[in-house]
Parts: sequence; structure tokens; C-alpha cells
Amino acid sequence: MDATGRKSTVAHKTLLEGSGLWKTYSGNEGAEPVLSNVSLQVERGEFVSLVGPSGCGKSTLLHVLGGFARPDRGEVRLGGAPLAGPASRAVMLFQEYGLLPWRSALGNVELGLEPLGMSVSDRRERARYYLQLVQLDDKRALLPHQLSGGMKQRVALARALAVRPELLLMDEPFAALDTFTRYHLQDQLLELQRKEALTVVLVTHDIDEAVYLSDRVLLMEGGPGRIHTELAIALAKPRDRGQRDFQAYRKRILEAFRLTGNGPEEEFTI
Ligand SMILES: Nc1ncnc2c1ncn2[C@@H]1O[C@H](COP(=O)(O)OP(=O)(O)OP(=O)(O)O)[C@@H](O)[C@H]1O
Ligand SMILES: [Mg+2]
Repeated sequence: MDATGRKSTVAHKTLLEGSGLWKTYSGNEGAEPVLSNVSLQVERGEFVSLVGPSGCGKSTLLHVLGGFARPDRGEVRLGGAPLAGPASRAVMLFQEYGLLPWRSALGNVELGLEPLGMSVSDRRERARYYLQLVQLDDKRALLPHQLSGGMKQRVALARALAVRPELLLMDEPFAALDTFTRYHLQDQLLELQRKEALTVVLVTHDIDEAVYLSDRVLLMEGGPGRIHTELAIALAKPRDRGQRDFQAYRKRILEAFRLTGNGPEEEFTI
């Protein structure tokens, strides 16, 4: 066991691996594949973002990586073992929170723990620990409609973390939030990632968010969906959005997108 109580497994540097992933949705035959021979590797403890225009296949790729959708071809491996379906080691956090409206904040965090066969008191203790981590213990008795959007997202984050996953897959989790709440949650996420030794794959439209959070940004394009560029963000965390190097990374990503499809790839190597 490590400090978080998570069972330690034989260290395998690559936690998540997608190889040669292809996906076409039924009813969409004849169209360009949504995923076209996509391969990626995510190291343990790494924070990777997927960035790209609407409809390019980011959510599809995230679903395939989490075992929620099957690729037509190719394979996903988690911790070295083939992934055949959703695994408790990998949890997905959606933009729309997915909280049960009739359950309190605490009840919602406990929800994911119910199938684990824990005693009621252990479950409650664990849920409160994660509500404290997202600074919501004092709101634990409130129902979702009594919470702000940012608080709901934090409850959803606590619920995801409470099952102590190794991998957190996030699909635009902060997109609906105002700038202040978003910045605050981004900092909390980085802090939690450090404390819990989490590996994160984040889908975002927000280039600033990708540069602020990620160790690596994968730029995707559609028609057919693929990763066209990979950019390591070599800046120490916490990062300063106003810093020149930060802005330089933003600019490189923006340029890569502006040039997509306008010429050979070498022109936008970043
Ligand atoms: N369940 C589905 N059935 C059929 N087609 C789908 C399904 N889900 C997604 N698609 C199609 O796959 C393509 C990629 O969708 P996806 O949701 O992965 O894009 P995205 O990059 O996440 O876009 P956005 O940024 O708008 O969320 C789109 O053309 C979409 O219409
Ligand atoms: Mg999407």
C-alpha cells in the first residue's frame, strides 16, 4: 500500500497505452473514421491534454481509452494489461457533473463506494476525506441544487477520487464555469494530482488550460481523427499565465491549428 491506501502494483512506467486505434460509428459508414490509427502512451503521474476542434474525436478517444467504447481496431492497455471494458482503476469525469439530485453532496461521493463492499462507517469516512480535499466538508449535507456550479464540479471530482483510481479521464470538466472558478479548480486539480499520484488525461477546448495543467499536449484534427502534433510543456508547476514562455507555448499551439491543412506537417512542427 502507498500513502493513499492504494495497492501498489508492479511499477510499469507507462500506465495507459492506445495502439493503432480506429473507430467509425455505425450509421456513419463511408464517412471519414472518427479515429484513424491513433496511438498514444501516457506515463504514470503524467498530465496529458487532448486539444482540437469540435467534432475531431476527442471525446470518442477518451471513451475508448476508458474502456467505455470499443475501437473497431487497435488495443488499449492499462498498466500493461488489455482493457476490455470500464475498469475501477480508471474513472471518467464529465462536464455535466452527473450528480444524483436527491442525494446530498456526501451521499453523492459515497455513491461510487457502495459497490466496493466497505462498511458504512468506512465509506462515510472516506467520502468525508475527499470532500475535505475539495474543501466542501461544510457543504456535505446540501443537495446538488443548493450548490454552485463550481461546487457541483468539486463534488463530482471528490466522487471520482474517492474510489482511488490510478487514471482520471476528464472531458471538458471546467468548460461551463466562470474564469475565477475555473482557475481555482485547475489549481485544486494540480494539488490533488500531486497528493494522490494521479495520472490524468484531459479533453479541453481551452488552450490556456492545456498549457497551465499539462506535461504534454496532444493536438488532434478531424476528418479523419488523428493526433497530428505532440507538444511537451517544459515549464515548472505552478505556472504563471503571464510569463513569456507560457505565452510562447500558447502561441505555438494556436499556430499549429491555424496551419492545419494548409500545407505539409513540417511547416507546423512545434
Ligand atoms: N454515439 C455516436 N454515434 C454516431 N456518431 C457519433 C457518436 N458520438 C460521436 N459521433 C461522431 O463522431 C465525431 C467525433 O465526435 P466527438 O464527440 O468524439 O468529438 P469531440 O472532438 O469530442 O467534439 P466536441 O469538442 O464538440 O466535444 C463527430 O462527427 C460525431 O458526430
Ligand atoms: Mg467532446
